[in-house]
Amino acid sequence: MNYRHILEEIYREIQPFAYEGKQADYIPSLAQVNPDQFGIYLHLLDGEHYSLGESEVNFSIQSISKVFSLAIALSLIGKQLWERIGKEPSGSAFNSLVQLEYEHGKPRNPFINAGALVLTDVLLSHLENPEDFFISFVRKLAHNPAIDYSHEVAMSEYSCCYLNASIAYLLKHHGNLQNSVDDVLRFYCLMCSVEMSCKDLAQAFSAFARSNEPFSHGGVQLTPSRVKRINAIMQTCGFYDEAGEFSFLVGLPGKSGVGGGIVALCPAKYAIAVWSPRLNARGNSIMGMKALELFTTLTTQSIF
Ligand code: DON
Repeated sequence: MNYRHILEEIYREIQPFAYEGKQADYIPSLAQVNPDQFGIYLHLLDGEHYSLGESEVNFSIQSISKVFSLAIALSLIGKQLWERIGKEPSGSAFNSLVQLEYEHGKPRNPFINAGALVLTDVLLSHLENPEDFFISFVRKLAHNPAIDYSHEVAMSEYSCCYLNASIAYLLKHHGNLQNSVDDVLRFYCLMCSVEMSCKDLAQAFSAFARSNEPFSHGGVQLTPSRVKRINAIMQTCGFYDEAGEFSFLVGLPGKSGVGGGIVALCPAKYAIAVWSPRLNARGNSIMGMKALELFTTLTTQSIF
């Protein structure tokens, strides 16, 4: 398979979409990012890799961080996690409040903001030093010790996170947060602020494609069974109210973030990350989705 040619063809074919959509601006720092950037990085499990564009430029991973916090929380408390969070697609926006009220404070899944706030609470309750643990887990997965939080982006989000605060208070009201709302919001914003490149993300998510060699760090283990569960949730819930569309067009488990990043994987074959800040109405990168759709079409390598 000539992956280099395929990436070049994808790059040509997505150009008509280059100025559609706009970057997230409800987090003030993200509004400052140059929206006209695109990067893609393919990490094949046999060790080969291919890239194009701004594939080594750092960006804000935002909701992609929820996959890392899910992996840690599942390892810390196992099945008990599912007493506090569901595992069904929500069909709603990532920051929706209404469903949480109807369902008495039990978030539909770990990837909507309500679910990720409960994951944050689990990490705060069970780790001695959650901030250090989380970042060292990500650094080890990505084989890059330079990965770090952006305290500026975290503060920028924290200073106006009124909707997430409302979700957190509703969770607290229903007894689904053990820590203070403020501690949960601060650590949640910090995890979302981690900056990584497409190269880092493709390397990190190769661990979810390679479940026969379990990754472990400080007692947290990505066992084959855990990886299977996490990939299933990425498949059904990784793109919020666009999870069906992503499954239909791309056919891979994956996760998006409002920084414009998307990472996806094909079990036993590859992990691939794309980044382009301009988003559609559901908060997913327009060129990123298009590029991944073309990738699985041209390579015929999806899970279906
Ligand atoms: O909580 C928020 O709104 C952001 N920190 C993360 C949202 C996000 O990335 C949704 N993904 N597409």
